[in-house]
Amino acid sequence: MQIRVISVMKIAIINGPNLNLLGARETSIYGNMSFEMFLDRLTQKYPSVEFSYYQSNIEGEIVNALQLVGFEYDGVILNPAGYTHTSVAIGDAVAAIKAPVIEVHISNVHAREDFRKLSLVSGKSVGSIFGLGLKGYELAVDWFLSR
Ligand code: DQA
Repeated sequence: MQIRVISVMKIAIINGPNLNLLGARETSIYGNMSFEMFLDRLTQKYPSVEFSYYQSNIEGEIVNALQLVGFEYDGVILNPAGYTHTSVAIGDAVAAIKAPVIEVHISNVHAREDFRKLSLVSGKSVGSIFGLGLKGYELAVDWFLSR
């Protein structure tokens, strides 16, 4: 008899404002796929990963979500969306929690308006991925799994 042990890694994905509209919102920048559809594919691709997903349009709720998963999960993939460029509180929450955070942006924030070049989250994250579309989330999972 052979026993296969599959270790489960817990990864939380947290998306900020307007990312609930992915697939419908500015499709030339963010693409045609809804996040729910993408998440289906992601969970199928990584059966050994236990994912949680949370999206909010409200800054404090994102802070709450980071605090909730931040001492229990192995890693957090965070796209703070518009709050990236303004939120001291989300940056502080990333610094406060134990789980490593990877910041992901679907678009190349450095190739867009100047205000998008500032991130209050990058400096508190283990790394940042931007401009690679939804693939960025997948690459973040790969990085957590390779540790
Ligand atoms: C975004 C980039 C942000 O500047 C913008 O406000 C978003 C999405 C991205 O994933 O490319 O809402 O975080």
